[in-house]
Amino acid sequence: MKNMTKLIVGIVALIPSLASAGDIQADNFKCLSDMTEVRHFYVDNLLGNVDDTVAVANSPTGGSYPEGSVVQLVPSEAMVKREAGFNPATNDWEFFELDVSDQGTAIGKRGFAEVVNKFGGNCFACHVQAQPQWDLICDNNHGCDPIPLTRGMIKAIQKTDPRCDPVELTEEDQANLQALQAALSAN
Ligand code: HEC
Repeated sequence: MKNMTKLIVGIVALIPSLASAGDIQADNFKCLSDMTEVRHFYVDNLLGNVDDTVAVANSPTGGSYPEGSVVQLVPSEAMVKREAGFNPATNDWEFFELDVSDQGTAIGKRGFAEVVNKFGGNCFACHVQAQPQWDLICDNNHGCDPIPLTRGMIKAIQKTDPRCDPVELTEEDQANLQALQAALSAN
């Protein structure tokens, strides 16, 4: 009986981490504010190795993200670092477009060089422009083509992640969301 309890406790302790980043499912993605905030974006690690992911994200000289790393700027787009050698062309990053609602996350599209976002842009084609030391992370000065979102708009989008508990929007957030809507409807 004692051994059984030990076994169950052992299994429960293993549940949060995956054996390999290859088993990624929709429910591995979560409310952005439950991830770890690094400057203006959010990271996690599906294998439980979040410290190493944060260390690379914070490094002033770049580096290679460890397997299992999840990086998100907005709720609906994610990059996940797969097992070493899985896709050398993308540095083993898999790109995801996610459909998020208060019901949770669904995976809209996933893949390597072929995933295209809602604005018609190819994730990989744009992110591969980052200088090599940044491991395909664009930030706003690593060499990628810009996206049509200001940092203020990004902050407001992050705060309206429908999977998270509601947070109060400042007047600035509201103005940014209105500007975003105006920009989208002008297209
Ligand atoms: C036109 C180029 C372009 C396209 C297409 C694009 N991105 Fe990005 N992405 C960027 C830029 C530029 C940033 C940084 C914006 C900032 O920091 O203000 C960024 C930021 C990110 C980040 C945060 C980490 C980082 O690189 O700074 C993730 C994750 C991300 N994008 C995923 C995706 C995914 C997934 C797709 C496709 C579904 C995609 N992106 C399509 C240019 C692009």
